[in-house]
Amino acid sequence: MEVHLTPADLRATMERDVRDGLTTSPKCLPPVYFYDERGSRLFDQITRLEEYYPTRSERWILDHHAGEIAQLAKADTLVELGAGTCDKSRILLDAMGANGTLERFVPLDVSEEVLVEAAEALVTEHPALEVRAAVGDFHRHLGLLPREGRRMFAFLGGTIGNLDPAERRRFLAELDCAMDPGDCLLLGTDLVKDPARLVAAYDDAAGVTAEFNRNVLHVLNRELGADFAPDQFAHVALWNAGEQWIEMRLRSERDTTVHVRALDLTVHFAAGEELRTEISCKFTPTGLEDELLACGFVTQATWRSPGDEFQLTLATPYC
Ligand code: SAH
Ligand code: AVI
Repeated sequence: MEVHLTPADLRATMERDVRDGLTTSPKCLPPVYFYDERGSRLFDQITRLEEYYPTRSERWILDHHAGEIAQLAKADTLVELGAGTCDKSRILLDAMGANGTLERFVPLDVSEEVLVEAAEALVTEHPALEVRAAVGDFHRHLGLLPREGRRMFAFLGGTIGNLDPAERRRFLAELDCAMDPGDCLLLGTDLVKDPARLVAAYDDAAGVTAEFNRNVLHVLNRELGADFAPDQFAHVALWNAGEQWIEMRLRSERDTTVHVRALDLTVHFAAGEELRTEISCKFTPTGLEDELLACGFVTQATWRSPGDEFQLTLATPYC
């Protein structure tokens, strides 16, 4: 296990992000803090919800096209960014194995507990596979990933949609720099569709997404000694048509003051005031191809799930 992000680093970054996010207007927090152990389990539950089609749709593409992806990529190393439970990585690893190229798997995630558990299971399932799990931040540690082999960087689940357009451009530029000739990118993106379907995916009837959303407040209470009352914040999911993204917010049900002990910070929330906790950008196939090209990547192939819900793109850097 390689650790590029120690608990102390994570804590320092969290302190800065939370101070910035709670003192700006409108208030906002980066989505990375959802994913402590509980948040990662809640996300796993989300992926099984009827309303949350992205995981099912992406898995459909992998089930039907992983062989072709492995043949085109000719990679011996799968690097997965934000790998989580590595569920879908298994389909790619099996396809690379069948293609006769598989040597190593490098899952990267900020969530150490989930990563360790997933990596241990993979070592048992694939005894010949070299598994080099890395705890790190895909905004900061791409250049520290192992450089051996011909690598396919998989960024699945639509996680790139959680970056705003400027972060996305920076991320793609850094990825471009971290890639060697022969490497490729396999990118999962959710596609623009009927807003009602999109909103339902982020506001499920069982309330799992609401609990996932509020989990960030539990994390701040535990890590920074904040005194948020999570049940006093309502889950909000809406489609921002201008930006083409889903926004998740937490709306304070009443006028309240929150103390964040570790930051010596007091924050006021008016009744009805909202804290933005996540964006999830949705793409069009042509918009994505143009954006990739502008960031140094040529699209080699695309695959879409039934109903054009979700897309996988295989792209290579052009220099
Ligand atoms: N790829 C999986 C998991 C998606 S959930 C899937 O497709 O189902 C998003 C994952 O990204 C979580 O496991 C979370 O811990 C991780 N993550 C979020 N922000 C990150 C960051 N800045 N750096 C590394 N991992 C991050
Ligand atoms: C990880 N990411 C792609 C998920 C998404 O759909 O944006 C996170 C999520 N948020 C709410 N539900 C799922």
